Amino acid sequence: MREVFVLAKKERVKIIDEIGKQIYELLMTRDYARGGYLLECAAVPGSGKTSLLLSIFEDTIDRYPDELIFFRDSYNSQCQFNRVEKWHIMAENGVNLRFLELPSMKEISLPVTNFDAKKTEDPMYYYKDLKQFGYDYYDLIEKAKPGYLNVVYLKDNTNWRWVIRFLRLYPFFQTLLFDEYEDLVPQRSSGNQWRYNEHYAYELKHSRRGCLNEAFDTQHPGDADWRVRSKFMLHAYLRGSKVGESSPVDQGPVNSLPVGKMIIDYGNALFGKGSFDPYPPKNPVMIATDMNSIL
Ligand SMILES: Nc1ncnc2c1ncn2[C@@H]1O[C@H](COP(=O)(O)OP(=O)(O)OP(=O)(O)O)[C@@H](O)[C@H]1O
Ligand SMILES: [Mg+2]
Repeated sequence: MREVFVLAKKERVKIIDEIGKQIYELLMTRDYARGGYLLECAAVPGSGKTSLLLSIFEDTIDRYPDELIFFRDSYNSQCQFNRVEKWHIMAENGVNLRFLELPSMKEISLPVTNFDAKKTEDPMYYYKDLKQFGYDYYDLIEKAKPGYLNVVYLKDNTNWRWVIRFLRLYPFFQTLLFDEYEDLVPQRSSGNQWRYNEHYAYELKHSRRGCLNEAFDTQHPGDADWRVRSKFMLHAYLRGSKVGESSPVDQGPVNSLPVGKMIIDYGNALFGKGSFDPYPPKNPVMIATDMNSIL
């Protein structure tokens, strides 16, 4: 009898591994009828969130060398992009970008490609009472390099919603990897920020059909606006992640996951196990600063 239980346990593990692989493959296939994916990874500090995004990047360039992949890194925080080999820094004209090595705070010179964002009248704008203008990021797409992590620094970080809009209207598969996304859609918001969050939620809702793949990470799901969070179809639970209320995943196994393993949940219905590679910080450890930037 005991043997049957052992076998059942083994099989269950195999099935869960298999489902995990299939869900990951779904994320990695490109099918215009199905469109893009929206993945949220909300997990405690140091559990491997950024490594997961960088693993997705490496896997994507291996499979789709022509796809454009954009990465949002934070200002005034340790740079994450140089954990991979192939990065390309893109700064909007007007950004006063400087890279400072830690802990000496000496300036480092890195190659930067500048791009222009044109203010443009947007007939499809969502709110009549806010601005009637959006931004055209064609130059960003023109200058981005396939096969590289295109790290984007914007003059005004609240404009990421326009970048998402532009990318989703551009008719090719592209991937946007967003580190620490709660900075842009804080859960507590009012005034313009409340409207921006609504706008993000709207853009995300339509991203799948625009064949835009998005993987966003945050330290705590409660830090980001629920209107945005409700749009994610995939959740990667890493060690210590708080499992969503509607998810069939149990909290216990998530708490005991080793770093590098995850449970991936598709549509609060199917879930399975997965793993990702480590991307430890590399030298030089540095921060990107821009005294004029917002956030
Ligand atoms: N698959 C893995 N196997 C072993 N170690 C890993 C793995 N993934 C990440 N790590 C290690 O764990 C540490 C934290 O990883 P990472 O920075 O990706 O986590 P994080 O959740 O983004 O952290 P933070 O909350 O500070 O942004 C790093 O030193 C990294 O090398
Ligand atoms: Mg991180």
